Amino acid sequence: MIPYGKQAIGDDDIRAVVEVLHSDWITTGPKIAEFEQDLCRYTGCRHAAAVNSGTSALDIAVQSLSLTKGSEVITTPFTFVASSNCLLYNGLKPVWAEITRDTRNIDPEDIRRKITNKTKAILFVDFAGHPCDIKELKEIAEENNLYLIQDACHSLGAEYQGRKIGTQSDLTVLSFHPVKHITTGEGGAVLTDDQNLHERLLLLRSHGIDRDARSRYGPEASWAYDMKELGRNYRITDIQAALGITQLKKLDGFVEKRIDIARKYVSALKDVSWISLPVTHPNVKHSWHLFTIILADHVKRDEFFTYMRRKNIGVNVHYIPVYHHTYYRKTIPVNDNDFPVTEDVFNRIISLPMYPGITDDEFSYVVDTITSFR
Ligand SMILES: Cc1ncc(COP(=O)(O)O)c(C=O)c1O
Repeated sequence: MIPYGKQAIGDDDIRAVVEVLHSDWITTGPKIAEFEQDLCRYTGCRHAAAVNSGTSALDIAVQSLSLTKGSEVITTPFTFVASSNCLLYNGLKPVWAEITRDTRNIDPEDIRRKITNKTKAILFVDFAGHPCDIKELKEIAEENNLYLIQDACHSLGAEYQGRKIGTQSDLTVLSFHPVKHITTGEGGAVLTDDQNLHERLLLLRSHGIDRDARSRYGPEASWAYDMKELGRNYRITDIQAALGITQLKKLDGFVEKRIDIARKYVSALKDVSWISLPVTHPNVKHSWHLFTIILADHVKRDEFFTYMRRKNIGVNVHYIPVYHHTYYRKTIPVNDNDFPVTEDVFNRIISLPMYPGITDDEFSYVVDTITSFR
């Protein structure tokens, strides 16, 4: 099966992991701070807190803002469930806004319509690696005194107005799952320029305790520590951080490869009348976590999906709108007709294989299989 996404692990990655396994610190050790510094250097943000998943990163990012329980956060329904789940973990209410058809990102106009006196933040997702219109989101946030939380799990390596993703929002969240731009197996991080938020994030990722194991180690160190608030164990290991460090060195190369694959898809599929190709706005650098196409009205998406899967091509559907899921149907029911663009895009969208290691033969096989459909 040619998957829709896949990690690229080299001998350098393996060596770095093995080195940590031979060391004294396989968790709470020096590799974590090194990885965090590298994330800051790469993105230009001041602080990074690495954790054990993008989901954990979203959870503590939201928690760090101490929003009053019952407050509303405006977010996109066209994403993985974790983007809304993090609000529920923190007693907040997701209020979904429509998406725009071209980028599948949240629609700023609909955000404006959904703001109430209970709204405290906007949590947006850079769908597929295409940054949202952050300038406009910032304007809305400033006018209405809202925090901006950027779920950048798809957009590491992307740029908005010439600046890397990671410095434009109050909090930016990354994921290092194997299908993402770089991997640590499982892993994530929260980036922020705000020192106070960063200090809270460090507490929250480790039980709310003010000193980690390493600072309590050695001849001069005291045993004392204090649990300041209710945190979790969301710590990433040094084994994973070592992998993150070597992966991050190769990130720009991975993104260039993804851009090249996207260019090749566009050139190979531009004349296929029943396919609409994804767009890139002029003020962004797209980092192509996903390559999604929209099928014409008369093409049955599920027929195309089954056809491709039977040819061993792991196409996928990103995403089932969050409000479709049973849990959300029960807890926050909405009328699907209020989201005509989201519904229409959901019914026609398909993700094609997109990862740096796809070979020319595999790529040609995918394109030939698509164009032989019908
Ligand atoms: C947009 C988005 N947010 C959050 C997550 C959660 O990340 P993780 O799988 O690292 O927990 C994902 C994962 O696919 C995602 O796509």
